[in-house]
Amino acid sequence: MKVAVSYLSSKYKEAETIKLIDKSNADYIHVDLMDGKFVENKNFTISAVTKLLSNTKKKLDIHLMTLKPEKYFEDLAMLNSEYVTFHVEAVKNAKDTIDKLNMLGLKTGISINPETDLEKIKEYLPLIDQVLVMSVHPGKGGQEFIPEVITKIDELIKLRKDFNYNYIISVDGGINNESIDYLKDKDIDMVVSGSYICHSDNFNKQIDTLR
Ligand code: DX5
Ligand code: ZN
Repeated sequence: MKVAVSYLSSKYKEAETIKLIDKSNADYIHVDLMDGKFVENKNFTISAVTKLLSNTKKKLDIHLMTLKPEKYFEDLAMLNSEYVTFHVEAVKNAKDTIDKLNMLGLKTGISINPETDLEKIKEYLPLIDQVLVMSVHPGKGGQEFIPEVITKIDELIKLRKDFNYNYIISVDGGINNESIDYLKDKDIDMVVSGSYICHSDNFNKQIDTLR
Protein backbone atom coordinates (compact mmCIF):
# COMPACT_ATOMS: atom_id res chain seq x y z
CA MET A 1 0.00 0.00 0.00
CA LYS A 2 1.25 3.42 -0.96
CA VAL A 3 1.43 6.37 1.39
CA ALA A 4 0.80 9.95 0.26
CA VAL A 5 1.72 12.59 2.80
CA SER A 6 -0.29 15.80 3.17
CA TYR A 7 1.50 18.90 4.44
CA LEU A 8 -1.71 20.70 5.44
CA SER A 9 -1.24 20.25 9.18
CA SER A 10 2.35 20.18 10.38
CA LYS A 11 4.55 21.29 13.22
CA TYR A 12 7.03 22.63 10.68
CA LYS A 13 6.60 25.56 8.30
CA GLU A 14 4.97 24.76 4.98
CA ALA A 15 8.11 24.88 2.79
CA GLU A 16 10.11 22.90 5.33
CA THR A 17 7.38 20.25 5.61
CA ILE A 18 7.37 19.83 1.84
CA LYS A 19 11.15 19.38 1.87
CA LEU A 20 10.90 16.78 4.63
CA ILE A 21 8.23 14.82 2.74
CA ASP A 22 10.26 15.08 -0.45
CA LYS A 23 13.28 13.55 1.32
CA SER A 24 11.22 10.86 3.08
CA ASN A 25 10.20 7.47 1.77
CA ALA A 26 6.62 8.65 1.03
CA ASP A 27 5.24 7.63 -2.35
CA TYR A 28 3.57 10.98 -3.11
CA ILE A 29 3.26 14.48 -1.78
CA HIS A 30 -0.49 14.97 -1.29
CA VAL A 31 -1.32 18.58 -2.10
CA ASP A 32 -4.51 19.84 -0.44
CA LEU A 33 -5.79 22.97 -2.13
CA MET A 34 -8.74 24.81 -0.59
CA ASP A 35 -10.42 27.87 -2.11
CA GLY A 36 -12.58 29.21 0.75
CA LYS A 37 -15.66 28.44 -1.40
CA PHE A 38 -16.03 24.68 -1.74
CA VAL A 39 -14.69 24.49 1.81
CA GLU A 40 -14.49 27.27 4.39
CA ASN A 41 -10.71 27.55 4.56
CA LYS A 42 -8.51 29.01 1.87
CA ASN A 43 -4.86 28.00 1.73
CA PHE A 44 -3.42 28.84 -1.67
CA THR A 45 -3.03 30.98 -4.69
CA ILE A 46 -2.01 29.05 -7.76
CA SER A 47 1.15 31.14 -8.20
CA ALA A 48 2.28 30.52 -4.62
CA VAL A 49 1.63 26.81 -4.83
CA THR A 50 3.43 26.58 -8.16
CA LYS A 51 6.47 28.22 -6.63
CA LEU A 52 6.33 26.02 -3.56
CA LEU A 53 6.20 22.76 -5.50
CA SER A 54 8.24 23.45 -8.61
CA ASN A 55 11.45 21.93 -7.27
CA THR A 56 10.11 18.81 -5.61
CA LYS A 57 11.28 15.42 -6.83
CA LYS A 58 8.39 13.28 -5.73
CA LYS A 59 5.24 12.88 -7.74
CA LEU A 60 2.31 14.99 -6.63
CA ASP A 61 -1.14 13.72 -5.73
CA ILE A 62 -3.21 16.87 -6.02
CA HIS A 63 -6.51 17.18 -4.14
CA LEU A 64 -8.60 20.14 -5.25
CA MET A 65 -11.17 21.13 -2.64
CA THR A 66 -12.29 23.98 -4.87
CA LEU A 67 -15.12 25.09 -7.10
CA LYS A 68 -14.21 25.33 -10.80
CA PRO A 69 -11.22 22.98 -10.43
CA GLU A 70 -10.51 23.22 -14.17
CA LYS A 71 -9.18 26.77 -13.62
CA TYR A 72 -6.02 25.23 -12.16
CA PHE A 73 -5.38 22.28 -14.46
CA GLU A 74 -2.94 23.91 -16.85
CA ASP A 75 -0.73 25.24 -14.08
CA LEU A 76 -0.84 21.92 -12.25
CA ALA A 77 0.15 20.09 -15.42
CA MET A 78 3.42 22.07 -15.42
CA LEU A 79 4.36 20.53 -12.05
CA ASN A 80 5.32 16.98 -11.22
CA SER A 81 1.63 16.08 -10.92
CA GLU A 82 0.51 12.52 -11.46
CA TYR A 83 -3.03 12.53 -10.09
CA VAL A 84 -5.35 15.52 -10.00
CA THR A 85 -8.52 14.90 -8.01
CA PHE A 86 -11.66 17.02 -7.85
CA HIS A 87 -14.87 16.66 -5.82
CA VAL A 88 -17.89 15.43 -7.75
CA GLU A 89 -20.06 18.06 -6.03
CA ALA A 90 -17.77 20.89 -7.15
CA VAL A 91 -18.41 20.62 -10.89
CA LYS A 92 -21.40 20.95 -13.22
CA ASN A 93 -20.31 18.29 -15.67
CA ALA A 94 -17.86 15.73 -14.33
CA LYS A 95 -17.41 14.12 -17.76
CA ASP A 96 -16.12 17.42 -19.19
CA THR A 97 -13.79 17.83 -16.24
CA ILE A 98 -12.39 14.31 -16.73
CA ASP A 99 -11.87 15.03 -20.45
CA LYS A 100 -9.95 18.23 -19.66
CA LEU A 101 -7.58 16.38 -17.33
CA ASN A 102 -7.04 13.60 -19.86
CA MET A 103 -6.23 16.13 -22.57
CA LEU A 104 -3.44 17.49 -20.38
CA GLY A 105 -2.04 14.02 -19.79
CA LEU A 106 -2.98 13.99 -16.11
CA LYS A 107 -4.43 11.05 -14.23
CA THR A 108 -7.93 11.76 -13.05
CA GLY A 109 -9.33 11.36 -9.56
CA ILE A 110 -12.78 11.93 -8.17
CA SER A 111 -13.24 12.53 -4.48
CA ILE A 112 -16.30 11.72 -2.43
CA ASN A 113 -17.22 13.17 0.96
CA PRO A 114 -18.22 10.89 3.84
CA GLU A 115 -21.89 11.61 3.10
CA THR A 116 -21.64 11.33 -0.72
CA ASP A 117 -23.59 8.42 -2.16
CA LEU A 118 -21.61 6.20 -4.53
CA GLU A 119 -24.48 6.49 -7.02
CA LYS A 120 -23.23 10.00 -7.75
CA ILE A 121 -20.00 8.73 -9.30
CA LYS A 122 -20.91 5.28 -10.62
CA GLU A 123 -21.14 6.40 -14.26
CA TYR A 124 -17.62 7.87 -14.08
CA LEU A 125 -15.92 4.83 -12.55
CA PRO A 126 -14.93 3.33 -15.95
CA LEU A 127 -13.26 6.63 -16.90
CA ILE A 128 -11.09 7.52 -13.94
CA ASP A 129 -7.74 6.57 -12.38
CA GLN A 130 -8.42 7.24 -8.71
CA VAL A 131 -11.31 7.38 -6.26
CA LEU A 132 -10.32 9.44 -3.25
CA VAL A 133 -12.58 8.39 -0.40
CA MET A 134 -12.73 11.09 2.26
CA SER A 135 -12.68 9.57 5.73
CA VAL A 136 -13.07 13.04 7.32
CA HIS A 137 -15.00 16.11 6.20
CA PRO A 138 -12.82 18.03 3.77
CA GLY A 139 -11.44 21.36 4.91
CA LYS A 140 -8.82 20.78 7.56
CA GLY A 141 -6.20 18.37 8.84
CA GLY A 142 -6.11 16.63 12.20
CA GLN A 143 -9.69 15.30 12.29
CA GLU A 144 -10.80 11.87 13.43
CA PHE A 145 -11.32 8.96 10.99
CA ILE A 146 -15.01 8.24 10.26
CA PRO A 147 -15.38 4.41 10.25
CA GLU A 148 -18.77 4.53 8.46
CA VAL A 149 -16.97 5.13 5.15
CA ILE A 150 -15.71 1.53 5.20
CA THR A 151 -18.96 0.32 3.62
CA LYS A 152 -18.29 2.54 0.62
CA ILE A 153 -14.70 1.38 0.35
CA ASP A 154 -15.88 -2.24 0.29
CA GLU A 155 -18.37 -1.41 -2.44
CA LEU A 156 -15.70 0.32 -4.54
CA ILE A 157 -13.45 -2.73 -4.19
CA LYS A 158 -16.30 -4.98 -5.32
CA LEU A 159 -17.29 -2.79 -8.27
CA ARG A 160 -13.70 -2.65 -9.46
CA LYS A 161 -13.45 -6.42 -9.36
CA ASP A 162 -16.84 -7.11 -10.94
CA PHE A 163 -16.39 -4.68 -13.83
CA ASN A 164 -12.62 -4.79 -14.24
CA TYR A 165 -12.25 -1.07 -13.62
CA ASN A 166 -8.81 0.48 -13.35
CA TYR A 167 -9.09 3.10 -10.63
CA ILE A 168 -6.94 3.06 -7.55
CA ILE A 169 -8.69 3.46 -4.21
CA SER A 170 -7.15 6.03 -1.92
CA VAL A 171 -8.41 6.89 1.58
CA ASP A 172 -7.90 10.39 2.92
CA GLY A 173 -8.23 11.78 6.43
CA GLY A 174 -7.59 10.79 10.01
CA ILE A 175 -5.17 8.01 9.07
CA ASN A 176 -2.84 7.02 11.91
CA ASN A 177 -1.40 3.90 13.53
CA GLU A 178 -4.84 3.04 15.00
CA SER A 179 -7.31 3.90 12.24
CA ILE A 180 -5.13 2.04 9.72
CA ASP A 181 -6.46 -1.17 11.32
CA TYR A 182 -9.81 -0.57 9.60
CA LEU A 183 -8.06 -0.77 6.25
CA LYS A 184 -5.75 -3.69 6.91
CA ASP A 185 -6.26 -6.60 4.53
CA LYS A 186 -8.46 -4.51 2.23
CA ASP A 187 -7.68 -4.23 -1.42
CA ILE A 188 -6.95 -0.50 -1.34
CA ASP A 189 -3.97 1.12 -3.00
CA MET A 190 -3.12 4.24 -1.05
CA VAL A 191 -3.72 6.12 2.17
CA VAL A 192 -3.25 9.84 2.65
CA SER A 193 -1.91 10.88 6.00
CA GLY A 194 -1.05 14.35 7.25
CA SER A 195 -0.83 15.21 10.92
CA TYR A 196 0.19 11.71 12.05
CA ILE A 197 3.35 12.12 9.99
CA CYS A 198 4.00 15.86 9.96
CA HIS A 199 3.66 16.34 13.71
CA SER A 200 6.40 13.79 14.32
CA ASP A 201 10.19 14.02 14.38
CA ASN A 202 10.67 10.99 12.18
CA PHE A 203 8.57 10.92 9.01
CA ASN A 204 9.97 7.61 7.76
CA LYS A 205 9.18 5.80 10.97
CA GLN A 206 5.52 6.92 10.85
CA ILE A 207 5.21 6.10 7.14
CA ASP A 208 6.66 2.61 7.72
CA THR A 209 4.20 2.01 10.56
CA LEU A 210 1.29 2.74 8.20
CA ARG A 211 2.71 0.45 5.52
C1 DX5 B 1 -8.66 17.15 4.57
C2 DX5 B 1 -7.53 16.86 3.61
C3 DX5 B 1 -6.65 15.71 4.04
C4 DX5 B 1 -5.89 16.00 5.30
C5 DX5 B 1 -5.20 14.78 5.85
O1 DX5 B 1 -9.37 18.23 4.11
O2 DX5 B 1 -8.03 16.55 2.35
O3 DX5 B 1 -5.76 15.35 3.00
O4 DX5 B 1 -4.93 17.01 5.10
O5 DX5 B 1 -4.62 15.11 7.07
P1 DX5 B 1 -4.88 14.29 8.42
O6 DX5 B 1 -4.11 13.02 8.26
O7 DX5 B 1 -4.34 15.18 9.46
O8 DX5 B 1 -6.37 14.04 8.54
ZN1 ZN C 1 -6.62 15.60 0.89
